[in-house]
Amino acid sequence: MPTAEVDAEVDQPAPSGAARRVTALNRNDKAFHVVLAQQFERDAIEQLCTLADMIREIATTRQGTQFLITLLSHRRAMLYFIQPSTRTFLSFTAACQVLGMPFNDVRDRSTSSEVKGESEDDTIRVLSQYFDLIIMRHPGEGFAEHVAHMLNDMPRTIPVINGGSGKDQHPTQALLDIYTLSRSFAQQTAKVERRFKDNVFDGKTIAFVGDLKRGRTVRSLSYLLCKYSGVKLKFISPPSLQISDDILEYLNRNDTQYELANDLRTHIGELDAVYMTRLQDEWDTDTEKSSIDYDKFSLTADMTGMFKKDLAILHPLPRREELDQKLDATPYAKYWDQVRNGMWMRAALIASIFNVDIAIRDHYHAYHTY
Ligand code: NCD
Repeated sequence: MPTAEVDAEVDQPAPSGAARRVTALNRNDKAFHVVLAQQFERDAIEQLCTLADMIREIATTRQGTQFLITLLSHRRAMLYFIQPSTRTFLSFTAACQVLGMPFNDVRDRSTSSEVKGESEDDTIRVLSQYFDLIIMRHPGEGFAEHVAHMLNDMPRTIPVINGGSGKDQHPTQALLDIYTLSRSFAQQTAKVERRFKDNVFDGKTIAFVGDLKRGRTVRSLSYLLCKYSGVKLKFISPPSLQISDDILEYLNRNDTQYELANDLRTHIGELDAVYMTRLQDEWDTDTEKSSIDYDKFSLTADMTGMFKKDLAILHPLPRREELDQKLDATPYAKYWDQVRNGMWMRAALIASIFNVDIAIRDHYHAYHTY
């Protein structure tokens, strides 16, 4: 290497391990592979929320829908989902349909050549030759990141989107959650472009409730909420299922205020949003069978009198008993909005990866007022 280049490198501060991980997943400072929530800074989050708003508004007319389906009709997506999924799978297929992107899926390893002894890495290398995008859900922590590196080394590099990796991360759920929170805090009245002029998260108290140790959605959303100064977080869970130290260290590094607690009832009155989660007992090991009393981590209709007027209730779903069905038809329930918002947010994300976001903005400004 020429000396000048060596000197230039010496002058640069060495990137930390975390920064290096993010850099390997991005192109031109933008997410190319979507694997970790830490890839998204506040600007990028808000641009995606604005883009999602634009897409949903464009899609309200037949002419707008016809425009959207031309955008990615020349690209193909593979949904490699070898862990159970209803919402994430269907919302990605709906997002592809919004953008006119043909897709195919593998949902069961027993139908792939893996039963003939092909390695999973080779299966994915093969998929990368037929498709232009891999969207994957996998039980292995870090597997989506491993796939991103593997694809970077292929002669034909295509992006991968992590639709849930083990107990670790679920970044697209976190993006749709923050989109839902911002719409709720803005009372759904602020139009596209204006919503983020004021920090709608400022001064808000948001609680995560339930199995926070093994809930990947909570981990990913915590990373994103750190980008909003003025937010206060509460982690309310049985002590054995409390959020892990790596997340708390990240919050400390980002000066995010937080509190650990173990009873929802004593905190519910202070909350602007509550993010409920189910017991993730599919991860239980034989030595760690969960026999936890979940009552203190359940939200019931008899608690309504303690709610703040505009409390937003979120849940990534599926739910069990921790979220009372009697709350479903109340204005507090935002979990059905989350489901629908996920489709628009994932369409925005795919549009952004393939750089058709510019065409969407141009179309929006030509045909819509804000
Ligand atoms: C979550 C998941 O798979 O992590 N579901 C989802 O994607 N909406 C939450 C869960 O399974 O509890």
